[in-house]
Amino acid sequence: MSNKKILILPGDYIGQEIMAEAVKVLELFKAEGVAIEWSFGHLGGAAYDAEGHPYPPSTQKAAREADAILMGAVGGPKYDSLPRAVRPEQGILGIRKDLGLFANLRPALAYEELSAASSFKPEVIAGLDILILRELTGDIYFGQPRGRRQNAEGFEEGYDTMHYSVPEIERIGHVAFQAARKRSKRLCSVDKENVLETSRLWREVMIRVGKEYPDVELTHMYVDNAAMQLVKKPKQFDVIVTGNIFGDILSDEASMLAGSIGMLPSASLDANNKGLYEPIHGSAPDIAGQNKANPLATLLSVGMMFKYSFGRADLAGRIDAAVKKVLKAGHRTGDIAQPGDKIIGTREMGDAFVAALKH
Ligand code: NAD
Ligand code: IPM
Ligand code: MN
Repeated sequence: MSNKKILILPGDYIGQEIMAEAVKVLELFKAEGVAIEWSFGHLGGAAYDAEGHPYPPSTQKAAREADAILMGAVGGPKYDSLPRAVRPEQGILGIRKDLGLFANLRPALAYEELSAASSFKPEVIAGLDILILRELTGDIYFGQPRGRRQNAEGFEEGYDTMHYSVPEIERIGHVAFQAARKRSKRLCSVDKENVLETSRLWREVMIRVGKEYPDVELTHMYVDNAAMQLVKKPKQFDVIVTGNIFGDILSDEASMLAGSIGMLPSASLDANNKGLYEPIHGSAPDIAGQNKANPLATLLSVGMMFKYSFGRADLAGRIDAAVKKVLKAGHRTGDIAQPGDKIIGTREMGDAFVAALKH
């Protein structure tokens, strides 16, 4: 069997640092005989610097040919004043759209070992295991028209357009019901149906799709209430399905249930489980270049890649177990440390993780 091809796009700022730790894991698995190979490409600011575009043709070609893509993070102050069309963020949005990666899985787990580092009371989060399914290629992120114009009163205004079509809602709905079916059979669809026409349609279609999954209990919640309920009683949720912008915000919020944004991985999948895997956090310019970033979200994303794109749930299981092991052994980057804890760096966490994976 030929090797699975992985395209690595480290991106900007801490992207480079966290991806170096992911490569250590790939090297270990390859040495064990797992049939993978990888190459590197540019995305985001790094691509703009090298090739003048955040998602250049060379990356497009490599991304289409790859079996899976690992991404670090893009963006940062160096690029913030560029025109929107060539900002690094357009690189990640461009690759998601180009490859049709509409289903974004963002699992949030509360690790027992991190319960003291969390802002929540232990009983609120103990055993928490939720999955946020974020639609990733529609919504106000991609809606047209958008831009600047002069309004009737003569003032400049910015505008964006939110929209979802029936097929777009149906396909994320099916992914969500199928995911719920494999878990606790409870699905909560989050929208703003009391205000937005887009959300009225979203809810109608979710109900319709739900008829095909009578074994799954479907509930609905407004996004403002969901933001509150997530911190009040997070364990009431199992699978949450929502649109692009609501999912972006709710998943950053949910990361605090896990203890840090440095703990949440993600998979962005197309209809055939070709995927792009990345931590949910950004390029963290404030800690970049200091060996401070937590690489665990990226390493968990490597696990999701083996599970979803390569059918190797066994290797994903080993990665999940190694995360628990390093946490249990007390290894802590700054974001998950408690006062008095010894803080280690990105590289040291990566090394401890690889050592845990071996045994
Ligand atoms: P961010 O997620 O980069 O950082 C928010 C805070 O979390 C910062 O204090 C940062 O130090 C901390 N943090 C993030 N990841 C961490 C890690 N692995 N370990 C320890 N601490 C971590 O969000 P931001 O500051 O709003 O955005 C910075 C840049 O990243 C922006 O240019 C933004 O557009 C971009 N961004 C990119 C992606 C992506 O590429 N997928 C995602 C989010 C933000
Ligand atoms: C994420 C990020 C991106 C998003 C940005 C960088 C475009 O916040 O992956 O969560 O909003 O989708
Ligand atoms: Mn985000």
